[in-house]
Amino acid sequence: MLTVKNLEVSYGAIRAVHGITLNVEAGELVTLIGNNGAGKTSTLKAITGVISNVKGSVELNGENITKMPSDKIAAKKMAMVPEGRRVFAGMNVRENLEMGAYLRRDSEVQQDMEKVFTLFPVLKERLKQQAGTLSGGEQQMLAIGRAIMAKPQIILMDEPSLGLAPIVVESIFESIKNINLQGIPILMVEQNVFLALNVADRGYVMENGVIAVEGMSQDLLQNEMVQRVYLGMED
Ligand SMILES: Nc1ncnc2c1ncn2[C@@H]1O[C@H](COP(=O)(O)OP(=O)(O)OP(=O)(O)O)[C@@H](O)[C@H]1O
Ligand SMILES: [Mg+2]
Repeated sequence: MLTVKNLEVSYGAIRAVHGITLNVEAGELVTLIGNNGAGKTSTLKAITGVISNVKGSVELNGENITKMPSDKIAAKKMAMVPEGRRVFAGMNVRENLEMGAYLRRDSEVQQDMEKVFTLFPVLKERLKQQAGTLSGGEQQMLAIGRAIMAKPQIILMDEPSLGLAPIVVESIFESIKNINLQGIPILMVEQNVFLALNVADRGYVMENGVIAVEGMSQDLLQNEMVQRVYLGMED
C-alpha cells in the first residue's frame, strides 16, 4: 500500500531523516513513535510532498510518488491530518468538512458526512460553529473528519493526541481505531507511546532520524529499550 525506502530529508545542509524504510499494508494501523526532533513530522511531510528536498523513494500502491507535489499526492487519495490540526479557523464546521471533499466528483459526499457525524456526534451539533472556537479535542475530531471526507485510501496523522487531556486522547484513539477497522489504513505519528502501541497493529520507533526498533505493537510494549526509554519503566 505505502512503501517508503531509504528516505532522507534535509533542511539545507542539515539532514533530519537519515534513510528510513517503512511500510503500511492494506487495513493496517501503524504508528511511528519517537521523541521531539526525531524526524517524525519531516518523514510525513516528505511522504505527502510538502517538502521536496528528499532522497529515497515513496510508493503508493506501486506507483512512485517521490517528490510529487502535495496537491497531486492529495489527488491520489492520501489524506493528511497535520500536526496542530490546522482547521480553517474562520470557517464553520460544515465548511471545513466540505473542504475535505473538494477534489471529489462522486455522489457520496453527503453519505460520508453522515459517517463523520456517526463517529463524532458533537460535530453535527456544531455545524455552524466557527472552527477556531471549537475545543482542542473537537478541532482534532474535525481535522480527522475532514480527512475522511476526502474518501482517502490511506490517512497519515501527525500527533493527534498533542495538547489534549488524557480522557480526550483515549476517545480520539478509539475513533482512530474505528476508522481503521472500517478499512482505511493509517500511519499515525505519536509521542504517546503507550496509547499509540495499544491501538496500532505495528510500530516503528524513530530516534535521531533513524528507525531504532520496529515490530508488532505487542512485542514493542514488551521491548526492554521501549519500556525504559518511552514508557518510563525501571527494571
Ligand atoms: N523547516 C526546517 N528547517 C530546519 N530544520 C528543521 C525544519 N523542520 C524541522 N527541522 C529539524 O529537523 C529535525 C526533525 O524535526 P521534526 O519536526 O521532523 O521532528 P518530530 O519528530 O516531528 O518532533 P516533534 O515530536 O517535536 O514534533 C529537528 O532537529 C528540527 O529542528
Ligand atoms: Mg512533529
